[in-house]
Amino acid sequence: MTEIALVNGKRLILGVSGSIAAYKAVDLASKLTQAGAQVDVVMTEAAQRFVSPLSFQAVSGRPVYSDMWRAEERGGLPSHIAHIGLAEGANLLLIAPATANTLAKLAGGFADDLLSVTALAASCPLVIAPAMDGGMIEHPATRANLETLRQRGAHIIEPETGRLASGLMGSGRLPETATLIGHVRRVLGLGGALSGHKLVVTAGGTREALDPARAISNRSTGKQGYAIAQAAIDAGADVVLITAAADRPPLVGATQLKVESAESMSAAVLTQVADAFALIMAAAVADYRPRDIAAQKIKKSNSALNLPLERTPDILLAVKAEREKTGYPMVVVGFAAESENLMANARGKLRSKGVDLLVANDISAGDAGFAVDTNRVVVLDKDGGAHKINLTSKAAIGATIIERVASLLACVPSPG
Ligand code: CTP
Repeated sequence: MTEIALVNGKRLILGVSGSIAAYKAVDLASKLTQAGAQVDVVMTEAAQRFVSPLSFQAVSGRPVYSDMWRAEERGGLPSHIAHIGLAEGANLLLIAPATANTLAKLAGGFADDLLSVTALAASCPLVIAPAMDGGMIEHPATRANLETLRQRGAHIIEPETGRLASGLMGSGRLPETATLIGHVRRVLGLGGALSGHKLVVTAGGTREALDPARAISNRSTGKQGYAIAQAAIDAGADVVLITAAADRPPLVGATQLKVESAESMSAAVLTQVADAFALIMAAAVADYRPRDIAAQKIKKSNSALNLPLERTPDILLAVKAEREKTGYPMVVVGFAAESENLMANARGKLRSKGVDLLVANDISAGDAGFAVDTNRVVVLDKDGGAHKINLTSKAAIGATIIERVASLLACVPSPG
């Protein structure tokens, strides 16, 4: 895990209560610290039976708080009274894992240990990740407590279903660290520059069926598109991610629509952009598809096989026509994946595709373009501007593109 701009410099309180999943919270504290947050861990007495405070102290580099009565090390907090010092100025309180007992205390407003009293004193957003065994999550009491907390504005992360520590199968597992951090990002991003605005992002390489066993595709893995969608969530946008990428975990905070072919991506995009502020077409869309899809697997026979191909719809051109009629989407960003004549081809696409921004992407280098975590691009705009971004992470490029899109918010007139 590397630094995350949105998390960097934030003060997070991580409440840990007494579930076996407490061991996973050590990894969570570590990854949040690596992302740049100041992580102050508050443990209940039961949590300390599962994991030592020393583990959290080691990964967070901070004192760990647990005793309501002892004047513990202040750790630079704004007050010497632990729960006040912890709560004051915190950006977010995450309770992971939250046991049934902790949920009951929070819902009832109890204040008999440092975690519950801190939760009462804190005015920052509250994110709760329940974890428990044996069907306790389904008990009406637990459900009612969760509902109470939800109605009060707490963000509840639904537990996952699978094997529980007891050996039972069911709901109650604490989600993986990456999922928990996805929820933290979504909540920290609320109220960001793009809040209240719908953004549609496409990602991955489309697959064009040839027969029941085969498809024609390209080398795109969706990494840049997902990074852009994540940056948009960080900025508070309502993100619809239309993805043709195979085997990617869902992006927390996005409405995800899975598509396969250029045709199905086109249909999804045209439906979604009808009320969207922006479309970012990061997907590598196939330009051709087999003219006929064989009903049965094509058998090898001759030494060569001729496959007649036909053109797929050009999605950006269809969006351009829609936009001329309706005014939506208000902002369009295209990509140009080029292996030669990068700038000339990209400038041509900026004009022909009717986009506001065009991200020129040289895919000939091994450290940029498809299937790697880094990229190097030039962002072109309609006024002739060209902003070169040297080799960096796809996350950083995603953030820059989203900043540019947000800066257009003020410039584009509302349709109608
Ligand atoms: N694109 C699209 N529909 C297609 C093909 C591409 O909307 N059928 C979009 C891509 O998502 C990208 C932009 O158009 O944002 C440019 O894609 P690219 O593959 O670079 O160019 P093409 O338009 O396909 O032209 P060529 O392959 O000839 O370079």
